[in-house]
Amino acid sequence: TPSFDFVVMANRLPVDRDDSQDPPAWKTSPGGLVTGVAPVMQERTGAWVGWAGAVDAEFEPFDLDGMHLVPVPLSGKEFERYYEGFSNATLWPLYHDVIVHPEYHRTWWDAYVRVNERFARRAAEIAAPDATVWVHDYQLQLVPQMLRDLRPDLAIGFFNHIPFPAWEIFAQLPWRAQITRGMLGADLIGFQRPADAANFRRAVRIGLGRPTKDTAIAVQDESGAHSHTSHARSFPISIDATSLDELARSERIIARAAEIRRELGDPEVLLLGVDRLDYTKGIRHRIKAFGELLDDGAIKPGEATLVQIATPSRERIDQYRKIRHDVEQSVGRINGEHSTLDHQAVHYFHHSYPRDEMAAYYLAADVMLVTALRDGMNLVAKEYVACRTDDDGALVLSEFTGAAEQLTQAVMVNPYDITGLKAKILSAVRMPPAERSRRMKAMRRKLRTDDVRTWSRNFLGTLDDLADTRRSAT
Ligand code: G6P
Repeated sequence: TPSFDFVVMANRLPVDRDDSQDPPAWKTSPGGLVTGVAPVMQERTGAWVGWAGAVDAEFEPFDLDGMHLVPVPLSGKEFERYYEGFSNATLWPLYHDVIVHPEYHRTWWDAYVRVNERFARRAAEIAAPDATVWVHDYQLQLVPQMLRDLRPDLAIGFFNHIPFPAWEIFAQLPWRAQITRGMLGADLIGFQRPADAANFRRAVRIGLGRPTKDTAIAVQDESGAHSHTSHARSFPISIDATSLDELARSERIIARAAEIRRELGDPEVLLLGVDRLDYTKGIRHRIKAFGELLDDGAIKPGEATLVQIATPSRERIDQYRKIRHDVEQSVGRINGEHSTLDHQAVHYFHHSYPRDEMAAYYLAADVMLVTALRDGMNLVAKEYVACRTDDDGALVLSEFTGAAEQLTQAVMVNPYDITGLKAKILSAVRMPPAERSRRMKAMRRKLRTDDVRTWSRNFLGTLDDLADTRRSAT
């Protein structure tokens, strides 16, 4: 087997197996993790260890777009217990401040442990001596320590793409100690916001009774002897802003943006929402606010159109079925009340679009609505800004996103406050062009330095330094 100096690990490979096509094809997989990490892989040739998105199927490692992809198989039972269960019906709601109730099942936990072991073994097999392994997200939190036990020579980094909750919430988790210890196997543990890193360090202090000093945590092995020092701090992720900027300047995308507005009947104001269809995204709150603005007559029907693009996600999980049902019902109600033959109040799409089409939508939209109830970062907000090469467009942004700490010139909202949300949406719709441009320019300036390559360079540079220090001390 070939050996790699750089290994990325994530639950998903950057591509999903699509068996609905004949012959089966590979298509880009969903979510912010892939958006953020894929560009990094094209700089540092290495291997990516992850699940191919199909169950009960084994695939040989293969090369794609300069990346070496190493598929890890999942059985149908593991898909239900490790992926749908522990990852997305236990950890996901727990880490997003229990917006819905997390479920705790011991069979799910057992599957999570087994799958994490499989991932760790696979990486241990393909990593070269002293290689750097970068483990991603909540599905693989046990991997860092498992990997250290197998391969103490490696530099191990872990990055948590989603929030890390306050101790008062995290404490519910029956396996909180195992999870905390699993993450501490890494030399460097990265989080989106300083508050997430602080929450984690507090979990170490209260949950494990171990002291922390600034970002540092002295980790002991099972016998109580010093093993290594782990560091927990924030590294806010971003996007490939330069390439999106270039794309949005192309004639093709500019023409397509104009065409989208024409196809929508040239609304005076086009509002846009783009999310995975997830209860954390605040889609219902945003639609409710928009509907009430029409009910009140604050926005005249015929004046504004809301386009909501909702990418299908985790569709078999109860809470995801429920949010889909609720969103579709409220869209139906608003359209029933406010649409006319030649003007539809809300256009709702339950599918994903290619990157080019998304860039055109961003460029076409006067007001972008990002109203997440809790979000680790939210890269959609950054993508919108990156595409506004015309320095126009207003961004309404939830204060509960990581992105709010970088895009400080957005119109900030508390999405739970429907009255406040309505007022802020209205102010974005009515914002004078000079103010729109001033805010957008400031956000675009910020994005120029806040790029995904800066993010990965910062993280990996810090990781390499820490691993060097550790190696030279032993
Ligand atoms: C978020 C998570 C990722 C996840 C993505 C898509 O961005 O942070 O880890 O891959 O959502 O969700 P899915 O369950 O389809 O992988």
